[in-house]
Amino acid sequence: MTRDSAPISVNAVLAELFTAAADTCRDRSPLTGRLLDDAADDLRRGGVTARIMAGSERDREGTVPGLRFAGAVHRLVLEGRAQGLAKHYPTVGGSPHLPTLWQDALPALEEHADLLRQRVQATVVQTNEPGRSAPLYGGLLVAAQEAAKAAGRSVPFCVRLLEIGASGGLNLRPHHVGYRLEDRVLGDEDSLLVLDPEWTGRPPADLGHRLRVVGRAGCDLNPVDVSTEDGRLHLSSFVWADQLERWRRLRDALDLAATDPVRVDRSAGPEWLAQRLARVERDVLTVVWHSVVWQYVSPADRAMGRAVLADAAAKATPTTPLALLVFEPRRVDGPDAEYRFELLLKLWPAGISLNLGHGEGHGTPFTWDVTRWE
Ligand SMILES: C[S@@+](CC[C@H](N)C(=O)[O-])C[C@H]1O[C@@H](n2cnc3c(N)ncnc32)[C@H](O)[C@@H]1O
Repeated sequence: MTRDSAPISVNAVLAELFTAAADTCRDRSPLTGRLLDDAADDLRRGGVTARIMAGSERDREGTVPGLRFAGAVHRLVLEGRAQGLAKHYPTVGGSPHLPTLWQDALPALEEHADLLRQRVQATVVQTNEPGRSAPLYGGLLVAAQEAAKAAGRSVPFCVRLLEIGASGGLNLRPHHVGYRLEDRVLGDEDSLLVLDPEWTGRPPADLGHRLRVVGRAGCDLNPVDVSTEDGRLHLSSFVWADQLERWRRLRDALDLAATDPVRVDRSAGPEWLAQRLARVERDVLTVVWHSVVWQYVSPADRAMGRAVLADAAAKATPTTPLALLVFEPRRVDGPDAEYRFELLLKLWPAGISLNLGHGEGHGTPFTWDVTRWE
């Protein structure tokens, strides 16, 4: 046994998880990678990290304990409770110096070990990436126009957007975001949030048409209330602190959200969705949307969700059409069997099923490349 409560072998398993998490972020966030590598070494020695992670030693790999630790540390910095460490964090004006990162982290980890332990145990890794509004916006234009064509209408449908796994709801206002292309800005060019979607190709739609959203609702197992400081800090803490572009995007999205609040209900998807879909709206396209959620949903909830959607799809009519639009990682066939993030669209009763393209997990860049979705 170490001087901490967990046997060294348990901390060694946890250390492996920290190293695995470092492997996934080292290239894109050297700061987070180094923090996790140093923390893994500290766990093996039974240092302060073992005290902070006490009670989380047997957490499943999928809960990514290392990223919960890194998020809790980032939050300390954002709250101004880790002055000696802040100089390494660009999100508070610092600049990382990796060789001295750990020695500067140690005093804050020691001083706030109890608080960090509570937070690591109480939180789930939760991001809400506003960049995904760009493929969503293009996908909604296609959906609204294709549904109209199929119904013999010349004007695209208005949209009711229902999001499963909405987190803080930052992607529930795609019509209030600006999307800067080479030759113009789509959406709301005066928005507090203007994205550079970095599109290759274009959505197969008339981009001159304005997206009209007449209803929005979202649910999440762990909804984040971005109208509170706690909610904003929670989402902010999981942005890797040396990814300033994502940081600025999140800041802008939070500012936009403050001007246009949308509540996110606490619910696992299926029941919530069934209630929403039971209310049919004439002359409106109802779009069920989720991004980077499916992998977290239990098999039972997946099956229920599919059944709820199939039931609603069977009842959809040309005047009350239904769409499923998703941006999720899918395994790509081939020798490397990699995953890539694809935008998929189904429309009922039109019977349209399209793979609209693929992009980076954060939604930008994105390549529009339309094929049938089998
Ligand atoms: C990686 S985040 C993505 C958040 C958001 N969709 C986005 O693209 O920014 C995954 C979200 O799914 C939520 N989640 C996981 N399982 C869920 C379920 N069964 N029902 C609803 N939300 C779920 C999590 O709480 C988390 O907020």
